[in-house]
Amino acid sequence: MKILVARSVEEWNRHAADIVQEAMQGAAEPVLGLATGNTPLGMYKELVRRHSAEGLDFSTTRTFNLDEYLGIAVEHPGSYHTYMKEQLFDHVNIDLSRTHLPKPNPESPEDEAARFSQLLEQYGPCDLQVLGIGTNGHIGFNEPGTSFSAKTAVVELAESTIQANAPVFGTDPESMPTHAITMGIAEIMTARKILLLANGASKADIMKLALQGPVTEDVPASVLQRHPNVVVLCDEAAASHLSKA
Ligand code: F6R
Repeated sequence: MKILVARSVEEWNRHAADIVQEAMQGAAEPVLGLATGNTPLGMYKELVRRHSAEGLDFSTTRTFNLDEYLGIAVEHPGSYHTYMKEQLFDHVNIDLSRTHLPKPNPESPEDEAARFSQLLEQYGPCDLQVLGIGTNGHIGFNEPGTSFSAKTAVVELAESTIQANAPVFGTDPESMPTHAITMGIAEIMTARKILLLANGASKADIMKLALQGPVTEDVPASVLQRHPNVVVLCDEAAASHLSKA
């Protein structure tokens, strides 16, 4: 596992975008696993900049997002469909038919999870999977206690996840979805390379536990210690509890 600690926001964004760009340019039809949330915002901004300023080409790239909420419309401002459109897809030359997210309002969530899992099997593995981390150690929406052998599934969000993400859903906490579809840990682990992103002091404890503590299903991100090709990109605050060795 390689751990990079960026000294500035610009350096962090550059490193993150470099790793994505390298994966995109390393395959004729690259497959990217993508995350949403606050952490990767600067990475997407830099990728969009490279597309317009340097011609970074997305036309043959296929993407799989880690997760999507259940019980809201695709166009809901808090959906991950909306996030991906706003942060990346609307600004680059990606073919939308090559972008895959679980649907937030399927007739049968279980069937939708199975469809997504099948697509991943058909087009995967991802050349690069980008991950954020929850303060409870979740990756995707695989909350503590999830089996390392889990595939894409309907899941219930942990209380801490609901609280962390509720602001996106406005002032009414009741409008925050309680369930989601998430790519499973077993599928995340099939990626050829994984980029784990973390920013801010609120992630310092969980980064220490996940990367340098025991590998356990109680800390889903600890499974990454078993993956042969992981790059961790932190700012100084998120890395502040990690031991050097
Ligand atoms: C998002 C996802 C989540 C987030 C995590 C961190 O697609 O799968 O695991 O990466 O909750 O969120 P932020 O970056 O908002 O702290």
